Amino acid sequence: MNITYHGHSCVQIAAGGYSIVIDPFLSGNQLAVTKPESIKADYVLLTHGHSDHIADALPIAQSNDATIIAIYEIAGYFGAKGAKTFGLNLGGSYKFDFGKVTMIQAFHSSSIMEGDQIIYAGMPAGFIIEIEGKKILHAGDTALFSDMKLIGERHKIDLAFLPIGDTFTMGPEDAVLAAEWFNAKAIVPIHYNTFPPIVQDAEQFVSALAGKGIKGNAMKPGETLAL
Ligand code: NI
Ligand code: MN
Repeated sequence: MNITYHGHSCVQIAAGGYSIVIDPFLSGNQLAVTKPESIKADYVLLTHGHSDHIADALPIAQSNDATIIAIYEIAGYFGAKGAKTFGLNLGGSYKFDFGKVTMIQAFHSSSIMEGDQIIYAGMPAGFIIEIEGKKILHAGDTALFSDMKLIGERHKIDLAFLPIGDTFTMGPEDAVLAAEWFNAKAIVPIHYNTFPPIVQDAEQFVSALAGKGIKGNAMKPGETLAL
């Protein structure tokens, strides 16, 4: 399978003829090199309701007739806007045609801003996506929490996408510990450099991982890896 990093927290998995896009935020991201119009998707996975994760979800879902997979409240929100949706909740798994998705917890907040309204968007989440015999973890926006160790014991993670930006999520030091606890074979840092408060040195993070014997890969926006 091929996995493309589109900047910020946006990750695209292409496997078995399916395209799965997580947290599309392209039109508002100056570092993104891909336009939302050029994204082909069968499924759009959303970790939580903040705009830097859902901004392009509805247009991508509607133009591709794709299904949005998110926590129950966000699925309801986009369902009311006419999108095809599938709601999960924390700890739950579901076998889709492309593979199995498990919703894991994230320690963050979640809401959707619409004008001057703040809409309740349920709990923030991360995902474990089991596809072609591999397990890919997307942590969403999260602080460090010790149950990452439990998740790492419960699942053999091949590749994990972890936020390192600090300010709104864990920073690089906590993300190194998260990488140890998730016990993934490889780590890709996300959610950094998009805005001034989350500027980080991803290569320094990768070096810190190497110091713990963990493989890191600071992918550039638009870069693809084969798994
Ligand atoms: Ni957030
Ligand atoms: Mn965010």
